[in-house]
Order: sequence, then C-alpha cells, then structure tokens
Amino acid sequence: MHTLPVLRDDDLSAAFDHAASTYDLLVGAHPGYHSQLRRSARRLGVRSLPPGSRLLDLGCGTGASTAALLAAGARRCGITAVDASAGMLERAATKRWPANVSFIQAPADRLGDAAADGPFDAVFAAYLFRNVTDTDGALAEVLAAMAPGGRIAVHEYALSGRAVHRAVWSAVCRGVVMPLGRATGNAALYAHLWRSVIDFDTAPRFADRMRRAGFVDVRALPLAGWQAGITHTFVARAPRREGPVA
Ligand SMILES: C[S@@+](CC[C@H](N)C(=O)[O-])C[C@H]1O[C@@H](n2cnc3c(N)ncnc32)[C@H](O)[C@@H]1O
Repeated sequence: MHTLPVLRDDDLSAAFDHAASTYDLLVGAHPGYHSQLRRSARRLGVRSLPPGSRLLDLGCGTGASTAALLAAGARRCGITAVDASAGMLERAATKRWPANVSFIQAPADRLGDAAADGPFDAVFAAYLFRNVTDTDGALAEVLAAMAPGGRIAVHEYALSGRAVHRAVWSAVCRGVVMPLGRATGNAALYAHLWRSVIDFDTAPRFADRMRRAGFVDVRALPLAGWQAGITHTFVARAPRREGPVA
C-alpha cells in the first residue's frame, strides 16, 4: 500500500471532476462528516461576525463546507466559495444557495478574481491543504487575501503523530474508504486520500507551519468520534496591522 502515489494539480482536479457525481453519496456514508464540518465552522465564530462580513470557503468542493458555514450562522455574510475542480463546482451549482453565496474556479495558491471579493474577514478551508502542492505558497496567498485580524479555520485530516491514530486511519481506508472508491470508479482518488494523509504534516507540524506563514493565535483543536487524533480544526488569525509609531 505504501507505493500508491498522491495526485497533484491537474491530475487531482481531473480525479475530483470524475468523482464529483458520487462525492455527496460517499461523504453522506461517512459518520459525522457534516456535523464535524459544522463544528469547525462554529469554531470559526462566524455567528459573531458583523453583517456584510466577507467569508472565503477555500476548496469548497460540492458545497458541504459552504453549507456548514451557513448552518453555523453565516447567512448575513458574503461567501465566496472557491475550488480548482470544475466538476465539483458544477455539482455545487445544482444545489439551491442563498444570494450571498457565489462560486469561483481558482487554485488555492493563485486566487486571482476570487481575491477581488476580499479582503476576507474569515476563511474556512476544509480538507484542502493536504491536497495542495505548495502548502506554504497557498497559506501565504490566503493570508494576503485576509483582512487584518481576520479569522481562519482549517479543518483537516492531520494525524496526531501517535502510532495508534495512523493505524486507525490506515484500517479505515483499507476496510472502507478504498473499497468504496474502487466500487464508484474512483480508486486513484481514494488511494490518494489515504496516502496524502499519511504524507501530510502531523497536527503540531501544521500548526507550526501556520505560525511560520505569519498567522497568530494558532491552536489545533481535536474533533470527536472515530476522527479523534485524525482530524483537527486549526484556528488562527491574521495579524492586526501595526499602528503608526508615535
Ligand atoms: C475533499 S474535497 C473537500 C470539499 C469540501 N470543502 C468539503 O468539506 O466537502 C477537497 C476539495 O479541494 C479542492 N482542491 C484540491 N486542491 C486544490 C487547490 N490546489 N486549489 C483549489 N482547490 C483544490 C478539490 O477540487 C476538492 O473539491
């Protein structure tokens, strides 16, 4: 199993394009997928944002994370939902969204037109950064698109670093995730899912990466259930701008 490759850039987007039609079915079979997303969206504190605040949902996919933001109280904010995969965005577009939500196709490390909707008061990135080739470049791009003092919540499979959590992740992938991936014709994407988590930063390392990128008040918060020690919410802020020196 260790020889399976991760997918990157165009290959990854093509795999998500192909998987888009069964994506919602598969995440619906994942116990707690939507409730854990809503938990991370609440940790972003969107309910306390003033009306008219700007939110970025980076790597929005078919809109599960966008829906979590709305459920967490983001109804009076403008939400720009961005993804690199045209297929995932097409799937998102088949759903009913309130007028404050718009979808844009862009890669996370070159936000282009999506950045023009900013500066963002809050950013949500669910299951994104592990997929990105240049993680530091994408973190820098996101920070540059944020308002001073803006909030970010990264919801990600980032292992604790303990052998038991790595073993549980591999067992779940071997027993459930990869067979479902093969059954739906998406073997490479779901092998990528397993491998990309094994290869990604542990939670303490990703928190340090965010600090090095310039985020402040970085905390890695655990999630519950079978994902304990496997999935974390990383909450942080963009630094506030220094005032003029008297
Ligand atoms: C696992 S899905 C998560 C979707 C959604 N956030 C959710 O919680 O269900 C990851 C999404 O990230 C997108 N993605 C991967 N790499 C990306 C990149 N470099 N730039 C923008 N989107 C990317 C994929 O196309 C995919 O839709």
